[in-house]
Amino acid sequence: MARIFSGIQPSGELHVGNYLGAVKNWVALQGTAEAIYCIVDYHAIIAAYEPAQLRIRRREMAVGLLAAGVDPDRASLFVQSDVPQHTELAWIFNTVTPVGELERQTQFKEKAARAESVMAGLLNYPVLQAADILLYLADRVPVGEDQIQHLELSRVIVRRWNALFSPEADFFPEPQPLLTPTRRIMGLDGQAKMSKSMGNTIGMLDSPTEIWAKLRPAMTDPKRIRKTDPGTPEVCNIYHLHKAFSPPETVEHVARQCSTAGWGCIDCKKVLAESMETELVPIRVRAELLREEPARVDDALASGAARCRALASETMRSVRERMGLD
Ligand code: AMP
Ligand code: TRP
Repeated sequence: MARIFSGIQPSGELHVGNYLGAVKNWVALQGTAEAIYCIVDYHAIIAAYEPAQLRIRRREMAVGLLAAGVDPDRASLFVQSDVPQHTELAWIFNTVTPVGELERQTQFKEKAARAESVMAGLLNYPVLQAADILLYLADRVPVGEDQIQHLELSRVIVRRWNALFSPEADFFPEPQPLLTPTRRIMGLDGQAKMSKSMGNTIGMLDSPTEIWAKLRPAMTDPKRIRKTDPGTPEVCNIYHLHKAFSPPETVEHVARQCSTAGWGCIDCKKVLAESMETELVPIRVRAELLREEPARVDDALASGAARCRALASETMRSVRERMGLD
């Protein structure tokens, strides 16, 4: 059975972009392949953080993922720092990663431009990501569009390592992204990708009141100024969210009402809020139940980590042997 791997940072909020771009696909894919999902705390500590906060965020991320439908019986869910081999393989991959490739990464360039001083961890972030995936010899990686470049780099690393240490038969597979139709969700400002750092998100676990408070002022078709102006659904961010959350008949109806100026944007947003509630309220309820049963979360993470440590030590045994490190 093929193995899929993906990771998410315990960044403090699981937003609708994460949910539609990645997590929903994680849930759909478990059962079709051996699925391994990781809360990547070693990646998260690259940005300034509070240790006590990190502990809370790791747990909240586990609660969110389980509530969204990650099923510990069909997928391994674990915290990265519970499997120390991630950093061991990352070090090994550092020795076969050209610095030029790291400096070319868009995410590095953007973050480095904003940083006062750039730490080596920021530059090496995608090397650790490659190690995450390859420690389990996973070849398929469900992620949003922003991760495509990191996966290209992981293939560069794999090719070089294989050429040096496994020339007859490739030991590591070349990981490929698995994208969804909602691979890039825009933020509520309609300007940039939905992301926590932009403050333009809706949380997957937001209450209906919070969802409405954020949707109400959200950007729509910029050319639609008055309610009587016909709109262009395809350029409207709210319409794209309808496509992700509303049933096809509703999507069609919304498009017609918008382009004929039958509805104003607020009417359209009210229907979207209802569709989002239909999908997200059950997740929110499950999250509340899980918070009351911390042992269920602990058990899921502990069994995921135990399974992953076993797989990881198997991979590292072969890697060490091939590299003369045994
Ligand atoms: P992160 O929060 O950066 O750890 O991202 C976790 C996952 O969510 C990754 O697979 C990202 O590609 C995906 N993701 C994050 N933001 C978005 C977005 N705005 N649209 C689609 N996918 C996203
Ligand atoms: N870089 C990813 C993100 O920011 C998180 C991540 C870390 C990841 N390791 C991974 C994703 C391995 C997929 C596979 O979203």
